[in-house]
Amino acid sequence: MPARAEVAYFGAGPAGIPTPVLERGAAAFVNFEDSGLGLAEISHRSSTATKILDETKKGLISLLDIPDNYDILFLHGGGSGEFSAVVFNMVAVWVEKRRRKAQEQFGDDDEAILLRVREELKYYLRLDYLITGSWSLKASQEAAQLLDPLGQNFVNVALDARETNEGRFGSIPPEDTWKLTPANANSGCGSAFVYYCDNETVDGVEFPSFPQCLEAQAGENDRLVICDMSSNFLSRRVDVKKYAVIFGGAQKNIGITDITLAIVRKDLLGDMPPPSFLHKVGVWSPPTILNWQIVSKNNSLYNTLPIFSVWIAGEVLRALIVLHGDSKVAGQEAVSNAKAETVYRVLDTNPDVYQPVNHRDVRSRMNICFRVKDPKTEKQFLAEAEERLLQGLKGHRSVGGIRASNYNSVSMDNISKLAEYLTEFAQRKRRETLHSSNSTPHDSSQHQEALISL
Ligand SMILES: Cc1ncc(COP(=O)(O)O)c(C=O)c1O
Repeated sequence: MPARAEVAYFGAGPAGIPTPVLERGAAAFVNFEDSGLGLAEISHRSSTATKILDETKKGLISLLDIPDNYDILFLHGGGSGEFSAVVFNMVAVWVEKRRRKAQEQFGDDDEAILLRVREELKYYLRLDYLITGSWSLKASQEAAQLLDPLGQNFVNVALDARETNEGRFGSIPPEDTWKLTPANANSGCGSAFVYYCDNETVDGVEFPSFPQCLEAQAGENDRLVICDMSSNFLSRRVDVKKYAVIFGGAQKNIGITDITLAIVRKDLLGDMPPPSFLHKVGVWSPPTILNWQIVSKNNSLYNTLPIFSVWIAGEVLRALIVLHGDSKVAGQEAVSNAKAETVYRVLDTNPDVYQPVNHRDVRSRMNICFRVKDPKTEKQFLAEAEERLLQGLKGHRSVGGIRASNYNSVSMDNISKLAEYLTEFAQRKRRETLHSSNSTPHDSSQHQEALISL
């Protein structure tokens, strides 16, 4: 039986948790701060719970420099729950803007207001999705399904990265090819929001930076950008004020599963039409548990919140703050980049054995996806990795291959172990190929290079 310290875990989620946090968590689970009760037993409305919630929020605010005009919500339902929440909440915000405008024109003529908003919805409601991998695809499908009863195609796929990459994810085409909903005098800045996933966990595609075309333009109405950061939260700096909403499940870089975090601009929490108006327009009002406004008003305690999971997140954040001091998340960014570069360097220097699957400029720092070029040896690669206690390397079932997840809890030591194994495996495969071939090696320059590096 391996000891915890002997295992190097590269699973894509849930991710590993730093051992000291788990050890403190184990004690807190049984008896929190000598109170005689464990953290999963105390009331979520107790002063202890409120303190844990506040401190966890403060940690996040400090690490990411979250401005005052944003609220932090702790939610249920994972990243998938937020795929729906985004649609429910943002469509309601969109409707409310139009309702107020119509009210200015028609005063208390409720019928005229309703007709106007219904018309506007029919002609102008669009949700822009940038689809760069399996998770943004799922989010867009969820939106289409939720809006389907309205009977129109409200989801605008502004980008489907598969279209220019032989039918599979792995690149992000230039911004000037994206088909964002154009600005329109009536609809304001175009779509109700633009949605993207910063890091696609399954496919290993990460946006290199905030898309330039989504930067606020002078004279433009507010463009609302929604971003799923489930798998690269806290791995690099984020200019929060460029976003309307950032969300992510906790189970990768923040803590354990059970909680989902959303950073929501406060003005979006105030603008909700009465549910009866939404229903008359033909749109559902957000289910209570997904309603950001209600969750915010109740300090994320509308219903029972798993305080143990919030505490774990708080401890992970505290550990990052202690580790990186004033450099905050920029410190973690440097570490994440260095770890990812270590692995990619080995892959790139052994091109006869490994093939990173994605275009270089969008390779994920968090989920490093590659193939062992000879399909017969991929299984062997994984089996030998397991023997070496390098675990969780199997690619997602939908795409196969290898995926080394480089979340914040993966230490440089464990990355070095992986790099050593990758190098050793490549050298061995090359030697085997050389020995099994009695004839002169192929004259391809790649093969020549590989032989020279032996
Ligand atoms: C980027 C991304 N978004 C959303 C999800 C869905 O999260 P959940 O399983 O918490 O619903 C995942 C899950 O791995 C993910 O990686």
